[in-house]
Amino acid sequence: MPEIRWEELRVAALDVAQRAYAPYSKLHVGAAAQVDDGRIVTGCNVENASFGLTLCAECGVVADLQRTGGGRLVATVVVDGDGNPLAPCGRCRQLLYEFGGNDVLIATADGPVPLAALLPGAFGPEHVPE
Ligand code: THU
Repeated sequence: MPEIRWEELRVAALDVAQRAYAPYSKLHVGAAAQVDDGRIVTGCNVENASFGLTLCAECGVVADLQRTGGGRLVATVVVDGDGNPLAPCGRCRQLLYEFGGNDVLIATADGPVPLAALLPGAFGPEHVPE
């Protein structure tokens, strides 16, 4: 297990939260994740007047992951605009599972937990027939 640079992740998540586009909910969300090669990838939420089309910050993270070369997520921090930790929504747990599996660590108010604790019995790539 690589060393997780939690403080760097928190700073990166808070920084990108300032660039959220959230005129409707006013909840500015930033997410940062450490990749297995040491990269840090980030994303912010991008809302839409058609509310259901809103992109969560974690959508940006997985897009940034692929944009910058792929790899596996090892740890993720999601914060609001004041730096308080936020739980990834259900859809985003699934997004993170695709690229981090059961073991990717998620920062919570009570400390890091593996994604398996937040999304038990997940459906994933291993369940899709070839
Ligand atoms: N949001 C995220 O960016 N990530 C989550 O995991 C939870 C919710 C955003 C979506 C929306 O722009 C705002 O928070 C309020 O739901």
